[in-house]
Amino acid sequence: MCGIVGYVGENKVYPFLIQGLKRLEYRGYDSAGLAISNGSLLVHKCKGRVADLERHVLSKETEGTVGIAHTRWATHGEPNDRNAHPHLSMNRHFALVHNGIIENYAELKIDLAKNGYLFQSETDTEVLVNLIEFFYQQSDEINAEIAVRLALSKVVGAFGIAVICREEKDQLIVARRGSPLVIGIGQGEYFVASDATPLIGYTDNVIYLNDNDVAVITKNNLTLKTLDDKPASFKISRVDRSIGEIEKGEFAHFMLKEIFEQPKTIEDTFRGRISHDHTAIVLGGLLDIFPKLIKAKRIILIGCGTSWHAALVGEYLIETYARVPVEVEYASEFRYRNPILSADDVVIAISQSGETSDTLVALRMAKERGATILGICNVVGSSIARETDAGVYTHAGIEIGVASTKAFTAQVTVITLFALKLAFAKGEITEAHYHEIIQELTEIPEKIRTILAGHLRIEEIAAKYKDASNALYLGRGALFPVALEGALKLKEISYLHAEGYAAGEMKHGPIALVDDNLPVVVVAPKDHYYEKIVSNIQEVKARKGNIIAVATEGDTVLKEMVNDVFEIPESHTAVAPLLAIIPLQLFSYYIAVMRGCDVDQPRNLAKSVTVE
Ligand code: F6R
Repeated sequence: MCGIVGYVGENKVYPFLIQGLKRLEYRGYDSAGLAISNGSLLVHKCKGRVADLERHVLSKETEGTVGIAHTRWATHGEPNDRNAHPHLSMNRHFALVHNGIIENYAELKIDLAKNGYLFQSETDTEVLVNLIEFFYQQSDEINAEIAVRLALSKVVGAFGIAVICREEKDQLIVARRGSPLVIGIGQGEYFVASDATPLIGYTDNVIYLNDNDVAVITKNNLTLKTLDDKPASFKISRVDRSIGEIEKGEFAHFMLKEIFEQPKTIEDTFRGRISHDHTAIVLGGLLDIFPKLIKAKRIILIGCGTSWHAALVGEYLIETYARVPVEVEYASEFRYRNPILSADDVVIAISQSGETSDTLVALRMAKERGATILGICNVVGSSIARETDAGVYTHAGIEIGVASTKAFTAQVTVITLFALKLAFAKGEITEAHYHEIIQELTEIPEKIRTILAGHLRIEEIAAKYKDASNALYLGRGALFPVALEGALKLKEISYLHAEGYAAGEMKHGPIALVDDNLPVVVVAPKDHYYEKIVSNIQEVKARKGNIIAVATEGDTVLKEMVNDVFEIPESHTAVAPLLAIIPLQLFSYYIAVMRGCDVDQPRNLAKSVTVE
């Protein structure tokens, strides 16, 4: 949420800043801007996308080798030129970019106003940059670093910031609390970004800042301390990513590329975790903690959005196979509702980014209350991955499309592996059953390839429904969360109102919506819910709803009964969610494209929600 990049070195800063912003645009795209230090502070910014900024800057000066830039997802103040970052302090000593929220900005603003400060924008960020300047101007003894430290000590809230000072022109200062920042180490140069994506191709060596770290960076030196001026410990990590991962290649959109990557990302997720003979599951990240997991009295899965849907799939799988009571909670609710937790509880956070603020804070709360906390994250080195007792990475690769697709199937793959391993370790399933489901899981990538090969048919069906204004998605069992996820995908990228429902619940209310205009997507493969869901289909049909069924290949009965069918290969119930979601992702994608929507950057959304 909001993208930050920064550079200090010997090269011209502008090309890196612009390219970095383009790579981070999925974090926010309301406005963009940059500031360059070259004896004075050059600031260029405007409402809109990075491409708009590029046009805006065309005839402007951009010389300099130290700079910061930002792409915004608005919190305080509407998206416009004035509220765009970077913000300059009133006397132009400092320029600052910020990700996060300064919660006490209103009172700080009043104090600054009493000291003669005037403000151009409605943002909390402009308050912070002026507060830094205010301290800076108190005495000659106070340099930029001290001023930043003093200002941040007054701040309540979350921040990832990058600051440059007119007088200390060769230096960049960055700090974090709650909002991620990573420093890339080059040869005689340093890079800064809110995630590692902009650094790919520049350096593989990075330092992930911890909360309350402040780094002062020049081209040849990096000093890392805590906010209260103590030396901070750090570790240099390697980022193993290729440029290909952050380019669309032959695909029109990142979302489409990521949908098509799923056979590979699921393979990457289970590679090394399923033995060659398909008889055992190894989850290295949980090895030490597993004895504790076997004894867990309760497992609580937390997450937001799509990750919450993956958690719901997990609830079905863990309860069905491992026979441990599971609760699934929205992290944003869990953190505020004083939950009862004990040392016998295991709380598992599911998060693609590993930075979602609600999930992170909920997890910290669970830890304080004595629960064992685990993470299922995609982004290596992310805050959730670092703060949990143990965890499993999903290995889906960088997900750039704002609507999550491959991260979801990777999460479901991990949770399936986890449920099976726990079930077998607890003696809840037989060896034969264990081997059977593992085998089924290994066949999923090939089956997804078959579904993807039929994408043109899905596109044709999407064309029939693109002008609908509402849609209902129904499913049962572990396919109910798939219905929720299908509906979310449609909402997010095509702005069509869509609701997911447990199919059995339809008669308790939503059935009132059914008429001959309503598309009803029913996830109805041949499993033990089949007869029940066929009855639900009949209920919709009797009311003239348009039914699109996700059905098992060769199901001629459903084909006769419904308007359109997305066929999926036959599979074991335990792995069916991984297949059933694929046509729904494509269906949403094609509808959004046909409606002229910006698929990769849907309105109002941003990837990685690091504010409450
Ligand atoms: C939906 C989507 C969001 C995220 C949610 C949690 O397509 O991307 O609903 O799933 O914001 O994000 P993570 O998984 O990063 O915690």
